[in-house]
Amino acid sequence: MAQSVVLAYSGGLDTSVAIKWIKEKYGMDVIAVTADVGGDRDLEAVREKALKVGAVKAVVVDARDDFVRHYVFPCLRADAIYQGVYPLATALSRPLIARLLVDVAEKEGATAVAHGCTGKGNDQVRIDVGVAALGPHLKVIAPAREWGMTREQTIAYAQRHAIPIPVTSASPYSIDQNLWGRSIECGVLEDPWAEPPEDVFAWTASAQDAPDRPGYVEIGFEQGLPASLDGRALDGITLIQELNGLAGQHGVGRIDHIEDRLVGIKSREIYEAPAATVLFTAHQALEAMTLSREQLKFKQKVAAEYADLIYNGLWFSSFHQDLAAYVGSTQRYVAGTVRLKLHKGTCRVVGRKSAHSLYRHSLATYDKGDQFDQGASVGFIHIWGLPVKVQAEAQPEKEWKQ
Ligand code: ARG
Repeated sequence: MAQSVVLAYSGGLDTSVAIKWIKEKYGMDVIAVTADVGGDRDLEAVREKALKVGAVKAVVVDARDDFVRHYVFPCLRADAIYQGVYPLATALSRPLIARLLVDVAEKEGATAVAHGCTGKGNDQVRIDVGVAALGPHLKVIAPAREWGMTREQTIAYAQRHAIPIPVTSASPYSIDQNLWGRSIECGVLEDPWAEPPEDVFAWTASAQDAPDRPGYVEIGFEQGLPASLDGRALDGITLIQELNGLAGQHGVGRIDHIEDRLVGIKSREIYEAPAATVLFTAHQALEAMTLSREQLKFKQKVAAEYADLIYNGLWFSSFHQDLAAYVGSTQRYVAGTVRLKLHKGTCRVVGRKSAHSLYRHSLATYDKGDQFDQGASVGFIHIWGLPVKVQAEAQPEKEWKQ
């Protein structure tokens, strides 16, 4: 009996060709697995296509709840945004897919797993490292990294083997999407000077076409997790879906970035992430109100590390466990409501409230009711400035006297 391999199948050109190619090259039976991470596609059609192209078995797994709960929300609580702009939608789905491949391989008694990533990107790293951590006995086959075919040759291969070429491969772009965002690369976007044509965007209106009247949205958080939208308690999937619709309609969440890949390449990336943009903005605003200055400052450093480790494929590392423990601890009192204004591509916080707020009106006000003891500032400043005064006397700096 032939050995079997579990392939992460998207239904696109590369993974379809991979089914045939693996059979030809390795003589293995291919079991196709497709993770539903909320990419809004007809996955039953994808499943049927896998069988038609030659998979011995094809399964679709609804991983949306798992994705939101165990990947997206931890990233949100950490404020992990790669290079300050990329909400990590694609990057977050990869460890989930790695885990799924390993689980199915175990269940099916497969000896290998496979994916359609090329040898130039981050995704190969994320999946390979995930599999190394969770199923080190499994061999990883990455046809697109091994076969050395150009896009034309891949299309010719598909035609030779009667593999239907998806309409999307007629599109000049390479697109990956899930609940948390949409990533678009290739075609004219490879010219970093070229403005992205309108047809790359599917989830967001252009600012020009967005409504003239601003929209308002209120996000309620409990322990750093979004729990309600405009006062309605919602599960994570629905909340993100609704927010993608609402914010997208106002043109919020377009990102154009020259990004540093782990493999050392700079690449031009376009993202659409309406819900992620709103939720990160809201979450940070609530933290500004409920965390101390020291907590905020340290958390920003943790956020940068957290984003890097997600981006760089280190999801299943002890370092991640350690950072997640810190982040989890910081979220105990991150509860309350944030009000945001969505208008022509912008998303601004216009209000926030929390039962655990550290903001005290009686301390901040310049009006009556002020309880801050201004006289006490004199002694505080005397001691705070003491080392500066001593040093200025002992080690005069000429420039300051000019
Ligand atoms: N550059 C992003 C990342 O490494 C997105 C990659 C998305 N892939 C695609 N086919 N558009 O996470």
